[in-house]
Amino acid sequence: MPASTGGIIGGGPRPCNSGLPGNEPLTKAEAVLNSPHFPLLETTLSGPRPLIAGNWKMNAGDAAGIALARAVIEGAGSETLGCDLLLCPPAVILAEVARLAGGSAAAVGGQDCHAEDAGAHTGDLSAIMLREAGASFVIVGHSERRAGHGETDAMVRAKAEAAHRAGLTAIVCIGETEGERAAGKTLDVLAHQVGGSVPAGAGAADTVIAYEPVWAIGSGRTPSPGEVAEAHAHIRARLAGRVDSAAEVRILYGGSVKPDNAGAILALGDVNGALIGGASLDAAAFLAIARLCR
Ligand code: 13P
Repeated sequence: MPASTGGIIGGGPRPCNSGLPGNEPLTKAEAVLNSPHFPLLETTLSGPRPLIAGNWKMNAGDAAGIALARAVIEGAGSETLGCDLLLCPPAVILAEVARLAGGSAAAVGGQDCHAEDAGAHTGDLSAIMLREAGASFVIVGHSERRAGHGETDAMVRAKAEAAHRAGLTAIVCIGETEGERAAGKTLDVLAHQVGGSVPAGAGAADTVIAYEPVWAIGSGRTPSPGEVAEAHAHIRARLAGRVDSAAEVRILYGGSVKPDNAGAILALGDVNGALIGGASLDAAAFLAIARLCR
């Protein structure tokens, strides 16, 4: 357990800056955590370096994507950010984006991989291929793949294991549907997904969790800070019995993260970055979010 420097401030490792003028991050986090929506949790200022990741989905797979990558990499190049950056472009430009990102602060990731290392799987990509193209991360189990491609927790876990075999960090996505939240099942769903999707033996070095409420993705709606903090604290508690160094595992929030709401979310103690869809297609917006982690 790292040395505490801040006493009771929130539910996890180092939070990002709130970005509010004249309002230090701890003050912000403390204010949020003192709200009646969730309990105070003991934590420290130490913890994993935040990760700000852009999931471009099926967008910008052409010259516009190369320009976007260049704008992010060059924009970040002249400053010292308080976070790691990750770009997850469409696979057809991943190698070129990785070449551009070489030597920069930005890493590159795939958006999905097959659970096997090679074989007769038309249209699929293996984690090894992504690695050879320059990726160091891969997203697995995004809700769009769970819903659109029938991916189960077991399939997601097998993909994360393939990522680990290839030396990639797996970003394992979990999150409840709107109906599950309305039925009061959010925490049970998250516990079930952590148990089913995260490989036993995973750890902070090879696994990131992304909490993405399905109903918040692309909708412009987000859970309250209290609801995000509750979910993240619950995920970390579930990881504790399952992975190595659970306190150091980065847990990202995803779902309608924008520059104007990111500060409040990233200031929460157990939030170690963000997985960003729409706003990651705009270099200025993506970098504005990253700068909140300064
Ligand atoms: P939006 O930021 O567009 O809501 O997308 C979130 C997401 O699905 C990232 O993986």
